[in-house]
Amino acid sequence: MIRFWLFLHLLGFTLWLGGGFAAMAAGVAGKREDRAGLGAIARSQAAAYKSVIAPGALLAVLSGVILTFSVSSRMGELVGFSIWLMVMQGAGILAALLVLLIGLPTAAKLARLDPVGQGATYFDELR
Ligand code: HEM
Repeated sequence: MIRFWLFLHLLGFTLWLGGGFAAMAAGVAGKREDRAGLGAIARSQAAAYKSVIAPGALLAVLSGVILTFSVSSRMGELVGFSIWLMVMQGAGILAALLVLLIGLPTAAKLARLDPVGQGATYFDELR
């Protein structure tokens, strides 16, 4: 069973990191677009957040929590916690909170704004 959760863990953070790099590449490529093009870039980044990055972050953290229970229950076999495991847990949970509470809502808001019309100033602030 642990292999299954480890598989989901690897799948989760691969989606999360892969989606993040794709969104970042789209953002960098967006610098060469005119303002009308920025709207399409923001919408594509929001789609990546919604359908790849956020589900990946959730999957990585949920499977990580289940793996943590499993590691704890094997403590007697000296599988134990290392400092790097704790770094992964702490940094992973913090990063997932940033993605879910800040990245995802900001991307969704940005995707609804028009970079050319009335929302242009707010669009730039959020960006
Ligand atoms: C982006 C964030 C994360 C990355 C890149 C990551 C990466 C990994 C990798 C590569 C492994 C396999 C290690 C091995 O089998 O040798 C692993 C295992 C594990 N991860 Fe994560 N992880 C992340 C987040 C988390 C979080 C948030 C938690 C807990 C809440 C967690 C808990 C665990 C546990 C308990 C194991 C199993 C360790 C063992 O069996 O000895 N991870 N992780």
